[in-house]
Amino acid sequence: MPDGVKERVLETYRQTAETYDQGVSERLGSSRWGIESLTGMLLREMRVPENPVTLDIACGTGLSTFSLVDYLGTGDVHGVDLSPDMVRKAAENADKLGYNIEFKEGDVENLPYPEAMFNMVISNMSFQFFPDKLKALKEIHRVMTPGGRMGQLFGGGEHVAELIDVCLFVSKDNLDLRGFRESVQDVIDMHIDLETVQRLLWETGFRRPLVYGYHRVMNVKPEGFWSRNPYPAYWRASVPEEIREELDAKVLSEMQERSGTRGFKMTWYTIQAYGSKPTN
Ligand SMILES: C[S@@+](CC[C@H](N)C(=O)[O-])C[C@H]1O[C@@H](n2cnc3c(N)ncnc32)[C@H](O)[C@@H]1O
Repeated sequence: MPDGVKERVLETYRQTAETYDQGVSERLGSSRWGIESLTGMLLREMRVPENPVTLDIACGTGLSTFSLVDYLGTGDVHGVDLSPDMVRKAAENADKLGYNIEFKEGDVENLPYPEAMFNMVISNMSFQFFPDKLKALKEIHRVMTPGGRMGQLFGGGEHVAELIDVCLFVSKDNLDLRGFRESVQDVIDMHIDLETVQRLLWETGFRRPLVYGYHRVMNVKPEGFWSRNPYPAYWRASVPEEIREELDAKVLSEMQERSGTRGFKMTWYTIQAYGSKPTN
């Protein structure tokens, strides 16, 4: 299990909370296929309970939470995130867009809610950042009511493998980029496969699991992807400021070198995982 991930997450989002929406939101930014579409895919498989009391775990700036409210049309909706900067931005966005949501700061491994509070829990594009996934799932299970349903959508397996390969290549044998290389390795270690997800759900006590992967080939413009995606932000957060530009130039040049006429080809592999908390 990689160490120091939470510190890196906090630093990443301290640096990028203000620009996150611009990069990944279809509604508040310039993304053509972003968080709102991903949350839509996640929600399609969720059965909405009567009188939903829902929690969006690792809600970030609230993009996934707003999609959840739109989908439900009603109910008591909460969002929690490790990063105080993201929670502040979520509250600001909710005010601006007219949503009534209670956002809190908190770690998925120690949620600031009592037992059995929620009958529906989701998490969008965040589970891959949780270093101890079993601990996270146990805590999610604790705050759910018996009969409640949980759904997660996240990057796993070979997700962005081609970009990871470029990062390992440019940082090889470069002592100044040791932190960068370690943070790339974090992501490799945290990308789990379908069988592992299924086993973890079962081990936590979730039943009626549904776990599947969705594989998409993306052709991206190197500059746009590198400057806007949360992974590069996470990797760059551990690079001293004075050498960031040099690193960016190296990565972009290598991505260009490996690009075809349609751009840099990348595997976009997301896993959707659902489970219910048993009633007895
Ligand atoms: C890629 S963002 C996704 C945010 C949001 N769900 C969305 O769809 O836009 C990942 C989020 O996970 C949060 N996060 C990472 N580790 C966490 C943890 N241990 N507990 C709670 N939140 C965490 C980060 O702070 C960040 O806001």
